[in-house]
Amino acid sequence: MIRIRVPATSANLGAGFDSLGLAVNLYNVIDMEEYDGVSICSTDGTWVPTTKENLIYQSAERLFLECGKPFSGLRIVQQNNIPMTRGLGSSSACIVGGLVGANTLLGNPLSLDDLVNLASDIEGHPDNTTPALLGGIVTAVLEGKRVYWVKQAVHNALRLVAVIPDFKLSTELARKALPEQVSHLDARYNLSRAALFSASLLQGKYENIRIAVEDKLHQPYRMKLIDHADEVFSQAYAQNAYGVYISGAGPTLMAIVDGADDRFAPQLREYLGTLSLDGWKIEELVIDNDGTTVHNVEGTDNREVL
Ligand code: HSE
Repeated sequence: MIRIRVPATSANLGAGFDSLGLAVNLYNVIDMEEYDGVSICSTDGTWVPTTKENLIYQSAERLFLECGKPFSGLRIVQQNNIPMTRGLGSSSACIVGGLVGANTLLGNPLSLDDLVNLASDIEGHPDNTTPALLGGIVTAVLEGKRVYWVKQAVHNALRLVAVIPDFKLSTELARKALPEQVSHLDARYNLSRAALFSASLLQGKYENIRIAVEDKLHQPYRMKLIDHADEVFSQAYAQNAYGVYISGAGPTLMAIVDGADDRFAPQLREYLGTLSLDGWKIEELVIDNDGTTVHNVEGTDNREVL
């Protein structure tokens, strides 16, 4: 039995629609072994598909098929800490977990680049799957079926405060809300900001972040799908956040704040209380630089497989 640990991810980072993403220290854990049939369960009470429709299972099976290896089934035990359909990369975690698990079980026939490409092919865009695999902050461009990527580890004291609504928003719906075409002006607005984001984060120019997360390609359209998003944005900036953006396709809203700011999350929680949003959750996170790791269940670290 092997154990795969996959981080949650936060994609887009405002202006970097479908191209920027980072991993955070909130993890799903998947135990996996080859098995004659399908045995799937979750240890945390979360409902998961227990048939061949399960995304971890399907992704693992796809890797076996890609490698031309016979596939008889899997035993999978899931521990889900990443909230589902909230814009924190829960689907990507399933895809990446399934692929990395299957690759490990087969003795690692696929390279890291192969895994990046295959994960993106299953998911449809690379900005969640790639940081889930690699950790850090990732710039990823999908050209045909190949992902051109750069991962940069982030060593700073920033805190990421995720405000997680008590409702789901499917990526499909959130993508349907986007226009078919945008103006040249809007495209230029985003290009310059997406380019500014990673460099500012990595070089500690945090005063740039507020401008860098501004976006005209998706957030204005998606804000309408997320009740109270405007208020949370305003409150986060009133509490001196460096930047706030919709995480992935939403509905989670992510604030980037000073690492020493212990008051930010409790104050925001209090504010949510004044709006009677008691079912919303707040997670205080940091960037994960490790990406997906593999261990055997006895605890031997197999990290070198990645
Ligand atoms: N870039 C994607 C989107 C992330 O915003 O739709 C969700 O997978």
